[in-house]
Amino acid sequence: MEIFHISAECYPMAKVGGLADVVGALPKYQQNAGHEVRVVVPSYDTKFKNENDFVCVHWGTVELGSFQFPYSVLKERTDKLGYELYLIEIKELFDRPNIYGYDDDIERFLSFQIAVLDWIKARNTVPDVINCHDHHTGLIPFMLQFSYKYEVLSEVRTVITIHNGLYQGWFGFDKMHYIPEFDLKHAGFLEWNNSLNSLAVAVKCAHAVTTVSPSYLDEINVSANGLESLFNSVRSKSKGILNGIDIEVWNPLKDKMLEEHFSIDDFETGKQKNKEKLCERFDLDASKPLFSFIGRLFDEKGGDLLPLASALALSENFKDINLLILGSGNPDIEAQLLQLSNDYKGNYNVFIGYNEELAHLIYAGSDFILMPSRVEPCGLNQMYALRYGTIPIVRRTGGLRDTVIDFGDDGNGICHDQASVGDVCYSINRAVNLYNDKTRFNKIIIKGMSTDHSWERVCQEYIETYNQIIQKHES
Ligand code: GLC
Repeated sequence: MEIFHISAECYPMAKVGGLADVVGALPKYQQNAGHEVRVVVPSYDTKFKNENDFVCVHWGTVELGSFQFPYSVLKERTDKLGYELYLIEIKELFDRPNIYGYDDDIERFLSFQIAVLDWIKARNTVPDVINCHDHHTGLIPFMLQFSYKYEVLSEVRTVITIHNGLYQGWFGFDKMHYIPEFDLKHAGFLEWNNSLNSLAVAVKCAHAVTTVSPSYLDEINVSANGLESLFNSVRSKSKGILNGIDIEVWNPLKDKMLEEHFSIDDFETGKQKNKEKLCERFDLDASKPLFSFIGRLFDEKGGDLLPLASALALSENFKDINLLILGSGNPDIEAQLLQLSNDYKGNYNVFIGYNEELAHLIYAGSDFILMPSRVEPCGLNQMYALRYGTIPIVRRTGGLRDTVIDFGDDGNGICHDQASVGDVCYSINRAVNLYNDKTRFNKIIIKGMSTDHSWERVCQEYIETYNQIIQKHES
């Protein structure tokens, strides 16, 4: 079948978070399974864009109310990502270094969605499925069904995959006229709590709703930033599909970003070499357990707990553990974390920013990875960590609940229930004891490294969902 994935992010073209990893990998596995898969993202001014070769396959003009934006559709020439990658180039709106965070984000992503549909319509073949990802693409299912100009595409089946339901793409009805003309009797689909809510529109109009883990689907029925009752009402067309990871990119035996390769047979020596490299670079003590955090420093990820939890863990166990943090986000959290590097020299360090290579080395060289998230729709870091022989310490929520089981219950990690400093420190203490019991520690690492989180298995679940909505339509 012909499948389009429409997204704001796709690794390696444009990445802010896990959304990019999923949209960069799932299509490759769908293509390998015999489908024709195309990914479409905006053309930002990124390294990948500048260093790769693109060919223009279509151009036109987006009309957004009275504004007009010329656009081009650029195809990556080689298909080296394992699927066809297309960029929508709207110079005025997207030729900027950042993906989000501009005052005109509503205009940017609306124009993107309109350009995508204008182009798909011009191709003269009707795709089987359009899989939209998060709110930036949420109006597509509505426009396909109700905008007059896309009538020829009204048979296309649509899926909205929710990677993060907290962000919903709200805007005022004063901008409703940006949406290509539709019968106003359908305007109710656009509204939620007196504003135009892009995610709610997608949830109402898409033929299927998927979340990136089964537990997250349960959770958004109870807590979803105002959309709980909507999620309840669409339960019958919803499914939680746990993300996979790209086991070709994330392979400790081949990963070029590591100091030393290793497998389940020689992880002890392999991991130690990576740890030594990390400790040398960050002035840490390689003979002590290394706890790391990788991610965005926001409350959602439990980033606000890190400064105090680190200070407590380091002062209680000072010289017993190392802590290394890689991330950026809330400036207050960043400042507090930086301050700690003066207080705990030799056992603590922080790198503010994001660096893919360093992230790989941290997964390989750490003993434990901390994920105290308040909300975690799926979480990929715990899966990368498991594959690289690093024990995840997680708060039981969303996808973390679905992938990490406490070692006390014969599982592969360490779990706690509260997003609190106390719970994080308690888990760190349990981890230190575990680290000192090498036989048990290694047994848990082996269990984690043997888990199969590959997309191969998972990608079939997406195909089943697509088939179900296609068959339902035909019958
Ligand atoms: C978002 C979620 C994260 C999920 C990722 C990929 O970043 O916060 O939990 O793993 O999307 O689906």
